[in-house]
Amino acid sequence: MSSSAPIGVFDSGMGGLTVVREMISQLPNESIIYFGDTARVPYGPKSPDTVLRYSREITAFLKGEGVKALVVACNTATAHALPALREEFDFPIIGVIEPGARAAVAVTKTKRVGVIGTAGTIKSLAYEKEIRKLLPDAQVTAQACALFVPLVEEGWLDSEVTRAIARNYLAPLVSSDVDTLVLGCTHYPLMKTVIGNVVGRDVRLIDSAHETAREAGEVLRADGLENTTPNGARYRFIASDAPDTFLALGQRFLGSSIDRVETLTLG
Ligand code: DGL
Repeated sequence: MSSSAPIGVFDSGMGGLTVVREMISQLPNESIIYFGDTARVPYGPKSPDTVLRYSREITAFLKGEGVKALVVACNTATAHALPALREEFDFPIIGVIEPGARAAVAVTKTKRVGVIGTAGTIKSLAYEKEIRKLLPDAQVTAQACALFVPLVEEGWLDSEVTRAIARNYLAPLVSSDVDTLVLGCTHYPLMKTVIGNVVGRDVRLIDSAHETAREAGEVLRADGLENTTPNGARYRFIASDAPDTFLALGQRFLGSSIDRVETLTLG
């Protein structure tokens, strides 16, 4: 595989652009093909089998586009599909859960770690497993926050309703006295202010986008796949539905790195 080949990145929708933004900044020579499954978002409430099927379809498509590695930028898809994808495809595959767990373990002092995510991610116990692999006596308190994704998609990032819902969901984490909280969903970093106000300033919030981009860089270097040629990075964005909305929101997020969105229906 040539080191100039692109890295594939996928998410259930737009949220994975948080990871792309970090990759552009940390890995400026790498080309990226991003697939946002906007026709089938959200993945959070769907069954593991359905999310695995969608993830396989997207990975097979990206393989056909010649990617040298894949970043699964969606927490729910990482939780349900990462082990299967790693077995079935022959390029390096990086998820968002291991890097997020590693970052949490590195900063917690009390070993009381909170995790919030979609219903699917929390039910899978994927974060607990990863955190306990690294810190066996960690006390993990996990909470599904199903209404956070629709609130973010509506742009209700800091309204009274959002604060009330956040207080409700986050109460068990406050009672457990966590010192670190993993934002285990692509959308939650956009609610950092509200979440931080509810859990308190002393709780460290972990956003796995930064760690995931760092891990992607390490994997590429270890596998001899790093692109060291400057100024050659190209970015392609593909959405399974509503490319205009994707473009408008994507430009707010990534600026001039995104000027066109292709449409492709899978399944
Ligand atoms: N991308 C999903 C995640 O990180 C959130 C949105 C969805 O439910 O599809 O879990």
